[in-house]
Amino acid sequence: MKFKTIEWKGDRVRLLDQRRLPQEVRYLDCRDASSVARAIRTMAIRGAPAIGVAAAMGIALAAQKIRSRRREAFYKSMERVCHEMSQTRPTAVNLSWAVDRMKKTLDEVHFLGVDGVKKRLEEEARKIYEDDIEVNRKIGENGKILIHNGDGVLTHCNAGALATAGFGTALGVIRAAWAEGKRFRVFVDETRPMLQGARLTAWELVQEKIPVTILTDSMAGWLMKKGEVTSVLVGADRIARNGDAANKIGTYSLALLSKSHDIPFYVAAPTSTLDLNIPSGADIPIEERATQEVTCFGKKRITPQKVDAFNPAFDITPHTLIQGIITENGIVRRPFKRNLALNSRPLTSKRAG
Ligand code: MRU
Repeated sequence: MKFKTIEWKGDRVRLLDQRRLPQEVRYLDCRDASSVARAIRTMAIRGAPAIGVAAAMGIALAAQKIRSRRREAFYKSMERVCHEMSQTRPTAVNLSWAVDRMKKTLDEVHFLGVDGVKKRLEEEARKIYEDDIEVNRKIGENGKILIHNGDGVLTHCNAGALATAGFGTALGVIRAAWAEGKRFRVFVDETRPMLQGARLTAWELVQEKIPVTILTDSMAGWLMKKGEVTSVLVGADRIARNGDAANKIGTYSLALLSKSHDIPFYVAAPTSTLDLNIPSGADIPIEERATQEVTCFGKKRITPQKVDAFNPAFDITPHTLIQGIITENGIVRRPFKRNLALNSRPLTSKRAG
């Protein structure tokens, strides 16, 4: 990768500030957990797996900064930090998944002295980071058979290296197929209102020298009608037990359009995005963001003053519209309820040194 989305720097967490892309490649150094939490809330870092990694690193950073060597005071502060991190954004389950892993580490090593616990938290955060890259490479390997020479692949939002520790999920599949020598077209929805497709996915693909065509979100149906799209490939923020998938607002409409045009619709996501505790998408909390994201374009107001705006950041695609879910363990097909449970065994790697 020519850039690092997030990096553990020992005494700080370095993030590529995604609010500034593609105009500016600027890194943001977060020196405490509150700055990491702010970076997640304000979308300096975004994308389900990436915010999970950021939260874990934020927790490890917070531990480091606690001066008290008294175990009770240390654990009390850590409880507060874990809670703060888990509240930053509600939809992507990877966030609470990563916070839970850090909490589990805290529980497991409580017998160590405070310094030992700090060390283990740092190791766990680095492991979450490294595992994510490995998992994404696997997703790419598993999914690349779905792309053929001459295809037209449409994606939405950014499910790339920027949305993960590296490589990406849906974009990881595209990367892996391209690296294998397959040649196909990549179409990217601009993804209003935050323009993750036009700004971030396009930027990543340009870095990789993979040709990309941008369209506004409302153009997808016509592109499909013209026969230019052979598959749709998106990421996910949370997948329920029955296969219903939350992803960036506009994904549901794309899935409906795909169905009408008989185009396969695939979701690529790590098993850390599966939430097998909830039966269906109806139980997934959908983040509502500030209406200014819709009423303004950048800093410029585009609507009359005093109009209201609808701004859910995500929607739910019902499992009936999904052809397959690509994880690090393979491609899951219907019936999702049974097959996701079988597929969800996590892939583990050596502990980071
Ligand atoms: O609001 P965002 O930019 O965090 O939304 C991101 C998405 O919806 C991605 O498609 C999803 O997190 C998958 S990222 C591998």
